[in-house]
Amino acid sequence: MKKIIITIDGWSSCGKSTLAKQLAKKLGYVYIDSGAMYRAITLYFLRNHVDWTDSNEVTEALKNISIEFRPNEKSQQSEIFLNDENVEYVIRDLVVAEKVSDVAAIKEVRNFAVAQQQKMGESKGVVMDGRDIGTTVFPDAELKIFMTADPAKRVERRFKELYDKNPNITIEEVKANLEMRDYIDSHREISPLRKADDAIELDNTNRTEKEQYEFTIKLTKELI
Ligand code: DC
Repeated sequence: MKKIIITIDGWSSCGKSTLAKQLAKKLGYVYIDSGAMYRAITLYFLRNHVDWTDSNEVTEALKNISIEFRPNEKSQQSEIFLNDENVEYVIRDLVVAEKVSDVAAIKEVRNFAVAQQQKMGESKGVVMDGRDIGTTVFPDAELKIFMTADPAKRVERRFKELYDKNPNITIEEVKANLEMRDYIDSHREISPLRKADDAIELDNTNRTEKEQYEFTIKLTKELI
């Protein structure tokens, strides 16, 4: 069977990672959460008080960052490690979410992350989700999906996810964060979020997880 690259781009909290994980599991592919890389870099910058408006400081800081995805035998999923520390859960905090779009807009940060992402896809058999995977990271990917969903639905989903970990969080905070990230991600100068011309749009506002999976696996099977 032919191995391909599947890219899943779209707005925040559209269900990209749920779909990407299901596809990777079914196909025996590697799932890469590119957003986790930008979150891990942001976490490092926050912890080490890196002034990310200073490009020299950013360049120096990036030299000290090593990012790896390692499989977790128990959950059967890969988790992200920042300099050998498992940061899979801490990077989901609102503290990181509030700054990640600013950090992800920095040229040096994007060059650093994109180079690693392209390496991870060298032998194909990869499902990668993010914002610029079908446009910049793998413009020649065999299958590109662009996910959208009604903003109110996205806020509701994200709120449920975050509330389980932090019951003090409010729906207004989550809404403000999503709106801010969508705006910055789609208006930045380098690799803004946009649908690649050859991407297939998947609006999952009224689709169940099963329906969105079936839609995509059908497309995949036509290609492998
Ligand atoms: O997918 P996520 O919400 O975990 O991504 C976190 C942030 O990282 C998001 O607000 C924008 C940025 N990002 C990006 O700029 N490019 C990507 N390929 C993935 C994420």
